[in-house]
Amino acid sequence: MFARNAAKAVAPNASRLFSSSSARHTKVTVLGAGGGIGQPLSLLLKLDPLVTNLSLYDIRGAPGVAADVSHVDTASEVNGYPGEKLDEALDGSKVIVIPAGVPRKPGMTRDDLFNTNASIVRDLAAAIARVAPEAHILVISNPVNSTVPIVAETLNKAGVFNPARVFGVTTLDVVRASRFLASVSGTSPSECNVPVVGGHSGPTIVPLLSQVSHGKSLAGESYDKLVYRIQFGGDEVVKAKDGAGSATLSMAYAGAKFANSLLRGLAGEKGVVTPTFVYSPLFADKGIDFFSSPVELGVNGVEKIHPLGKLSASEEKLLEACLPELKKNIEKGKAFVA
Ligand code: NAD
Ligand code: LMR
Repeated sequence: MFARNAAKAVAPNASRLFSSSSARHTKVTVLGAGGGIGQPLSLLLKLDPLVTNLSLYDIRGAPGVAADVSHVDTASEVNGYPGEKLDEALDGSKVIVIPAGVPRKPGMTRDDLFNTNASIVRDLAAAIARVAPEAHILVISNPVNSTVPIVAETLNKAGVFNPARVFGVTTLDVVRASRFLASVSGTSPSECNVPVVGGHSGPTIVPLLSQVSHGKSLAGESYDKLVYRIQFGGDEVVKAKDGAGSATLSMAYAGAKFANSLLRGLAGEKGVVTPTFVYSPLFADKGIDFFSSPVELGVNGVEKIHPLGKLSASEEKLLEACLPELKKNIEKGKAFVA
């Protein structure tokens, strides 16, 4: 277990973050780049002008994906690394995105992936601790509620955990909430920026519809149906893909969207706020160390963790259902590393 002030051990070096060389060189690495998410995510990162070097790693197929993506006519350099070249892939990374691991099949929960994905994520985090301890780490691999604590604990064991630099990517929940609310309210997703808080699985996903103008009037069955669809949107895709995996394209979009938000914050843009699952004080008094809430991203990564704001009575109930499940998932992740 780590102390709540663990960040102090590795406080970011501001002069380095602002140096002209770091402004010119932003290496982003994808671990699991050959997979269903990894491939389109790599393509979308190739389109991001804030990425100058794209490093693609997988235990299978990354050099091929890199050769392909490298022909896209944007400025960034692309390199692909096979399984034995993990250290080279990581070296000098500013941001590391992890979609490595197995996806669900129909009938499985995200927690059913724990046995396979926990060790994949732990081993990748151990390599990051050794080779790129100052990188910002974006965890996509499920179950996110457990894999993020696994990454944090692994870094902490190595003495390099900085809570400002570890993120669980929950952006797909925000993307879905926005899209689904737009559908039921007959508006545009751009007008439906729903904060989604908690974690990333079923009842731990808590959409705060009352905080959006098009969502606050929903009630009764239409409210319940929308909440259910946001909480279980992942199941819709798993079922439709019928054994061929889970969300990949929408996830790649969400992953690239979050990476871009972080890169904008790291580049000094102010006011970049988006929900993400981070080491958080919000429910620490209840023994819950990680929580997703709107977070301001800045030059050091996490700049400010925003409180949840005013909740409706229904949202209070959703939060009540979220907390014990989330606590269990987090403890499982921590126990795996301990
Ligand atoms: P996939 O099987 O298509 O791809 C996974 C890739 O990881 C494969 O290419 C595999 O070779 C690679 N891999 C396995 N072990 C590795 C290791 N040790 N190092 C590097 N690469 C390794 O799966 P996918 O559909 O891309 O999903 C990946 C993960 O993302 C799953 O765990 C899935 O549940 C999760 N996911 C999360 C979200 C989210 O919202 N956070 C959304 C969708 C999927
Ligand atoms: C999702 O929300 O689509 C992902 O977490 C993948 C899954 O297993 O549902």
